Amino acid sequence: MRKERALFVVLLAITCLFVLVGYNNQTKIIIAPQEMISVAHRGASAYAPENTRAAFQKGVDMQADYLECDVHLSIDDELIVMHDDKVDRTTDGKGYIRNMTLAELKTLDAGKQFGQAFSGEEIMTLQELIEEFYDEVGLVIEVKNPTNYPGIEEKVVQVLEQYDDLSRIIIQSFDVESMKKIHTLLPDVQIAILMRPTDSFMTSKKIEEYSAFASYINFNVSFTNKRMVDLVHKHGSKVLVWSKKDRRLIWKAQKYGVDGIISDFSERPEELHLAQE
Ligand code: G3P
Ligand code: CA
Repeated sequence: MRKERALFVVLLAITCLFVLVGYNNQTKIIIAPQEMISVAHRGASAYAPENTRAAFQKGVDMQADYLECDVHLSIDDELIVMHDDKVDRTTDGKGYIRNMTLAELKTLDAGKQFGQAFSGEEIMTLQELIEEFYDEVGLVIEVKNPTNYPGIEEKVVQVLEQYDDLSRIIIQSFDVESMKKIHTLLPDVQIAILMRPTDSFMTSKKIEEYSAFASYINFNVSFTNKRMVDLVHKHGSKVLVWSKKDRRLIWKAQKYGVDGIISDFSERPEELHLAQE
């Protein structure tokens, strides 16, 4: 009984400490909304079919600083821009990208599941995305499940190496080893590590280890906190937070002092901020 009471007191003290630290830090605004980076998540995917030309164009029209996209490898080693590893949810086809050729993927309709007005949207390759949009906007390229695609890192590097200026490219993944590999192959390109919900309370040492090669450490906005953001900044990296549907993203982003938002709605942070005041 004594032991249980002692444990309760310790837990209560820890909770109070977190509440106090959080409260204290909320009063400190580090980055104004107009200085935050705006990333269009899978393009401006609230308004057009995700990861298609239409969504990327909408992101550009909405003045995003970066377009976020996801990439997989087809059976004939082409980098395919799509979120899921199967085509079922977003196209009129069925099956795994890794079992299909680019020619087969190009016959699919990637628009009409979203709305008839988008019927005829085709699946893009990473090379097409770069050729068509990189002049106008930065790109955040997420390497999806790289362990399913041996050699995908080399393929991404091979595509990017054709361009002189890679300063507005960020490569990201949940897979830390894959990002280390890309950093080794292409040390000048910015890397981002995507954090999982279980990473909400990482040690300073771990963040220091990631910051050694990653310019960004990015979190789902629901699974981060001011302490994490402060630690990432302390180690010299930046933080982007993402959310698919949370319209309060900008408020949380500002409260935590992050460097930018990744949003389906692709609204400028300063406009979102004003609209909610
Ligand atoms: O940019 C972060 C975000 O894209 C990661 O989640 O599932 O949308 O790829 P997901
Ligand atoms: Ca993504």
